[in-house]
Amino acid sequence: DTSAIPHPRWRVPLIGDVIGTSRRTPVQDTMRQGRDLGPIFSRRFLDREIVFIGGAHLTAELSDEKRFAKHLALGVEELRVIGGDGLFTAYNEEPNWRAAHDVLMPAFTQSAMRAYHPAMVDVVGELVGKWDRGGVVDVSADMTNLTLETIGRVGFGYPFDSFRREQAHPFVRAMMGSLRHAQRKSFQFPLAAKLFGRAAEERYRADVAYLAEVVDEVIRARVASGPSADRPDLLDLMLASGALDEVNVRNQVITFLIAGHETTSGALSFALYYLSRNPAVVEKARAEIDAVWGEAEAPAFEQVTKLRYVRRILDEALRLWPTAPGYAREARTDTVLGARYPMRAGQWALVLLPLVHRDPTVWPEPERFDPDRFAPEAVRARAGHVYKPFGTGERACIGRQFALHEATLALGSVLRRYELTPDPEYRLRVVEMLTLKPEGFRLTVRRR
Ligand code: HEM
Repeated sequence: DTSAIPHPRWRVPLIGDVIGTSRRTPVQDTMRQGRDLGPIFSRRFLDREIVFIGGAHLTAELSDEKRFAKHLALGVEELRVIGGDGLFTAYNEEPNWRAAHDVLMPAFTQSAMRAYHPAMVDVVGELVGKWDRGGVVDVSADMTNLTLETIGRVGFGYPFDSFRREQAHPFVRAMMGSLRHAQRKSFQFPLAAKLFGRAAEERYRADVAYLAEVVDEVIRARVASGPSADRPDLLDLMLASGALDEVNVRNQVITFLIAGHETTSGALSFALYYLSRNPAVVEKARAEIDAVWGEAEAPAFEQVTKLRYVRRILDEALRLWPTAPGYAREARTDTVLGARYPMRAGQWALVLLPLVHRDPTVWPEPERFDPDRFAPEAVRARAGHVYKPFGTGERACIGRQFALHEATLALGSVLRRYELTPDPEYRLRVVEMLTLKPEGFRLTVRRR
């Protein structure tokens, strides 16, 4: 029963809360509609009612793993077509989740990050090789080049040659097409699906088939070459474990290629957007980078982990625009949320992170970009479980340290090396393809 839960004022009989809704921007529409409805609200779309959480304290409550668990909802469930029982899209009760989690955890420890560091430095070197030519760069496109290249090489020893191409690698195009499709499918009228669905469905199938083809090529290359020479990477671990069947390994590779780059690329792009408008933050970051990195041509692993302020810039960018903008939680047993809203076992709610991270009871002046919100004393003073860009609990992001190391290294390198000038006319436009990223954001880069 959701009758106690507020919903938008203009609920239309039969079709629901569709006024002001676009399948291209469901997150931003819901943010707009939910802003004044309080920490919990519902939206109805045809016969389906979705409960959203926009408040920090209810989000903290949903983090209680004894009462709640991950739920595969909407667009994420659509991704089963691509990721199958891979880590991200596995159901909680699928035995392959635990098996793969146990096999892959060693690949995400601190010592694993140390081993990945040199390859991450190499990829940043390729970005720099491009940006050294100066001129105007498409930020989101180059951040995608950087992060796809990094997960390809570090995770699977597979170069996509991203920086040597005029256009994005076809993998990126197929991935974006299929993510967009998965998003649209969740917010589509049955009639529109009938009218326009066939062609879109065919394109989708072709995209998914292409993604699978790339993955098979990645696996084939490794089987042919044998295990990587120095240290087992993600693929070696999976192939050697014997715990994962062939189909599951394939699902994991595709999951990591997608989950492992799209969100990190958006995080870097948003960070650069905010930096381009906050010169005082840039100055503070540069002072830190100069102090910690000194004259070193390429930073060592520890020199990246010591960039505390640069890290906070990323934390703050992910507060305002968490690039994976939500996750769903279901009740394990019948329970009452917030001492007021009854939930039956299996019922779920969608945590809408961009609203949660703007909850004014936790974040004063929520729209203001301020990395100092993540200074240690500020974090200590804040309630726990109110900042969740990497999800929560057992099913939280396995790649968090990977993303943060890679992004801190890249941001530090770029800030140290370039003067970044935005187009003064640019206004932030956020595109949604399940994930979020700035659209049309360009910078003029010049060696300092
Ligand atoms: C899960 C965010 C980078 C791999 C998740 C979840 C979130 C998230 C919110 C939980 C989703 C849910 O509860 O339904 C992010 C963000 C990233 C990032 C914001 C970058 C800034 C990465 C990277 C990798 C990765 C670099 C791999 C190298 C995964 C995987 C899962 C996951 C495999 C599923 C974990 C499981 O359920 O066992 N991520 N992620 N992510 N992420 Fe990330």
